[in-house]
Formats: sequence, C-alpha cells, structure tokens
Amino acid sequence: MKTMSYGLLKGKKGIIFGALDEKSIAWKAAERCHEEGAEFILSNAPVALRMGELNKLAEKTGSEVVGADATSMEDLTALFDRAQEKYGKIDFILHSIGMSVNVRKGIHYTEMDYNFLNKGWDISAVSFHKVMKAAWDKDIMNEWGSILALSYIAAQRSFPDYNDMADNKAYLESITRSFGYFWGKDKNVRVNTISQSPTPTTAGQGVKGFSGFLKFADEMSPLGNATADDCANYIVSMFSDLTKKVTMQNLFNDGGYSTTGVSEKVAERFT
Ligand code: NAI
Repeated sequence: MKTMSYGLLKGKKGIIFGALDEKSIAWKAAERCHEEGAEFILSNAPVALRMGELNKLAEKTGSEVVGADATSMEDLTALFDRAQEKYGKIDFILHSIGMSVNVRKGIHYTEMDYNFLNKGWDISAVSFHKVMKAAWDKDIMNEWGSILALSYIAAQRSFPDYNDMADNKAYLESITRSFGYFWGKDKNVRVNTISQSPTPTTAGQGVKGFSGFLKFADEMSPLGNATADDCANYIVSMFSDLTKKVTMQNLFNDGGYSTTGVSEKVAERFT
C-alpha cells in the first residue's frame, strides 16, 4: 500500500548516506523523504557508485550524487563543502552505513582478525563520528536539525552470528550519546539511532543464517518484523519537526521484538 504524503519535510535539505540498491534502507528512506518534500545529496563509497544503481535513485528523486568513503575525513570534508555550496545549511543527515570484513569472510567471533575488526569498526561506527565532525566543523546544521544512524539489537544482546558488528553497533550507539550531548547543548540538533528489525538487504543477507533468523524475529515480534519501508517512515518522522526533543536515544523499530520474552508462536514449537 502506498503511504500518503503529508509534506512533513517540505523545504528541508539533507545528506543520505548508504543507498546501494533498491533493497537498501537508505534507498527507501530517500524515496520517502523525497515524497515528503525534502531535497538531498546522495552519498556512498566510490566502489558502490561504480555499480551505477544510485544514478536511478538520483534521477527519481532529483538528487545529486557525491561519492565519499565515510572513513576519509578528506572525502567527507569535500562532500560537506559541496552541500554547503548547494544548500547553505542543511536539516538532516542519514548514516546508513555498515560493513564487517570478519562477517563477510565468515570468520568466527573467537577467531577474529583484528585488522578486519579495525576496518569494520571504522566503517560501521567511527564513520558516524567523522560524519558529525565534518558537519560540526562546517557548522552546516540548521537549529532543530536531525542526525540519524541505523543500529541493531545485537548492541544490547548476544547474537552469535552477528560477530564484530555487535560491538560496532554498541560503539555507534555510544557515539550517538556522546556527540549527541554536544549537538544538543551547542547547536539544538538531535542525534539518534534507529534499531531496526532484520531486513533483507545486501548488508543484512551477509550475516550467516540470515533467512532463518529473519523468520525467527518475525515470529517473536507481536507486530512482525519492521520492513525497510517501515524504517523509511520512521526516518521521515525523525527528520520532521514532530520529534524535536527526541535525542541521544536508541529507538527500536522492531515490531516489539526487543521487549518480548517469548511469543506463543515460538513457544508452540517446543510443546
Ligand atoms: P546495504 O548493504 O544496502 O547498505 C550498507 C551501505 O554501507 C552500502 O550502501 C555500502 O556501500 C555502504 N558502505 C560500506 N562501506 C562504506 C564506506 N567506507 N563509506 C561509505 N559507505 C559505505 O544494507 P542496509 O541493511 O540497508 O544497511 C544500512 C544500515 O542499516 C547499516 O548500518 C546496517 O548495519 C543497518 N541495519 C541493517 C539491518 C539489516 O538486517 N539489514 C538491521 C539493523 C540495522
């Protein structure tokens, strides 16, 4: 069913990181933000841009694509320079970036390669600090702007196959609180993470045993898994003026999974 448009983001400008293909959470978010009247730059790592998919989204949403490796301060500074040139100030940033080399290579948590850990940590967690630092130095955010990243409940609870991404997400959520304090106090800008249900995207499907896990989470959640489209709607609300005083939070968009001990559906399998 098509979601109605309410003009919630009319006149707002921003940057959306991490749309890879049409399954990406950032892709759906860009489509919804566009429907709600926002204008934005789409950014992704140069290697992702080479796929060419992002140009389709750019065309559809009337956006410009600017490549940036989110671990490179140099790339990020150039990106924010371009955003400043184009918009002056901006109102929102979506960080929808994650990657673990240990997960990709199927290396067990107990056998972790620390060089791979460093790389994944930089891409999945520290890059959020770097993005905010680039925005901070440019003083590019309008008052009451909103900065968001995406997280997963493995930051709070153990999910064996999520590997070092669990630790990266815990760090990401901590950065959200630490930097969020200064954004709030000095700039009246809010910073949050949305902790999303397992979602069949390129990053999601890279996790071992993903399809069984997706089904398990769905059956555990009273409202069922939140889809990428559900996440896009939540992102719109977090970028809108309706959530001005929500900050330094990890917000679960998970159909009730995080506070369900067991569901009847799952329990029935053991009777
Ligand atoms: P995706 O694979 O579509 O998006 C991940 C993005 O990260 C890609 O666009 C990729 O190009 C980008 N990226 C990787 N390295 C980069 C770098 N060095 N610089 C800039 N961008 C880089 O997958 P998805 O699922 O849409 O992931 C988005 C976010 O949602 C990630 O933070 C992920 O951890 C999070 N998330 C995903 C869940 C899932 O089950 N799919 C569940 C909860 C959170």
